[in-house]
Amino acid sequence: GKVRAPTHIISTISDDRGEEPCYGGVPMSSIVEQGLGVGDVISLLWFKRSLPRYCTRFIEICVLLCADHGPCVSGAHNSIVTARAGKDLVSCLVSGLLTIGPRFGGAVDDAARYFKDAYDRGLTPYEFVESMKKKGIRVPGIGHRIKRGDNRDKRVELLQLYARDNFPSVKYMEYAVQVETYTLSKANNLVLNVDGAIGTLFLDLLAGSGMFTKPEIDEIVEIGYLNGLFVLARSIGLIGHTFDQKRLKQPLYRHPWEDVLYTK
Ligand code: ACO
Ligand code: LMR
Repeated sequence: GKVRAPTHIISTISDDRGEEPCYGGVPMSSIVEQGLGVGDVISLLWFKRSLPRYCTRFIEICVLLCADHGPCVSGAHNSIVTARAGKDLVSCLVSGLLTIGPRFGGAVDDAARYFKDAYDRGLTPYEFVESMKKKGIRVPGIGHRIKRGDNRDKRVELLQLYARDNFPSVKYMEYAVQVETYTLSKANNLVLNVDGAIGTLFLDLLAGSGMFTKPEIDEIVEIGYLNGLFVLARSIGLIGHTFDQKRLKQPLYRHPWEDVLYTK
């Protein structure tokens, strides 16, 4: 009989062997003809299914809102300094991307994990926040360097508004709002940040869309797909900052002595 040679790679998301490449089984011509957008392509390649329009629009709004946040944040700063050192586009981009992590932009997955666990276990906001404090873990998705209770993050408000108008259920988001009410009673900078908003709203998207089984949701949260949204989005801004510096022919950056506390 036929002997099937073992393969070295298994791949399930795309196929380029036919006349035209397919994303999740959907040919590219169909993607273009149907007028699909980047949210649909993310659905096919990351989640391996076509999601309803309100979900793909939500994904696109996350990308639009997280594309950039000015030159002063960690990622943009790194890209700017790298561009001014004369490096190529990819070096500038990855130098910025490498700052994305638990403090900056990369708290989306952990926010989803911790808020889901707390909500599913029926913890009150007080019990959740105080148990995190006891463990010495900052609540992912809470806190911001410049946003405050009286100067909220517009991106969070826009995402919440969209979800309230379009999602069948926003139970995780409502829980996050209650947690924020409690953390704001402790300190004015402990707002629900954009990572926390995306993390908890994506839980609502996954649970409320009826497109995912419970084990699939657990797997998405466990593997950690959601930081990918911030990484993807912020790449747009980091590339923009790189072009900006090169266009402006900015010289090699050197940090001023006056801004360093030299001490023993
Ligand atoms: N949970 C509990 N307490 C907190 C939190 C939090 N998430 N954030 C700040 N605090 C409290 C702590 O008491 C902290 O004291 P500590 O240093 O003894 O732990 C104190 O506030 C320090 O407050 P700030 O100086 O204002 O916070 P800082 O500017 O150092 O940090 C940051 C801001 C990194 C965003 C922080 O709030 C944090 O770690 N949040 C969790 C991670 C997160 O969600 N990051 C994403 C931010 S949004 C974005 O990057 C796009
Ligand atoms: C961002 O999106 O980069 C910001 O929320 C971080 C910041 O400190 O402004």
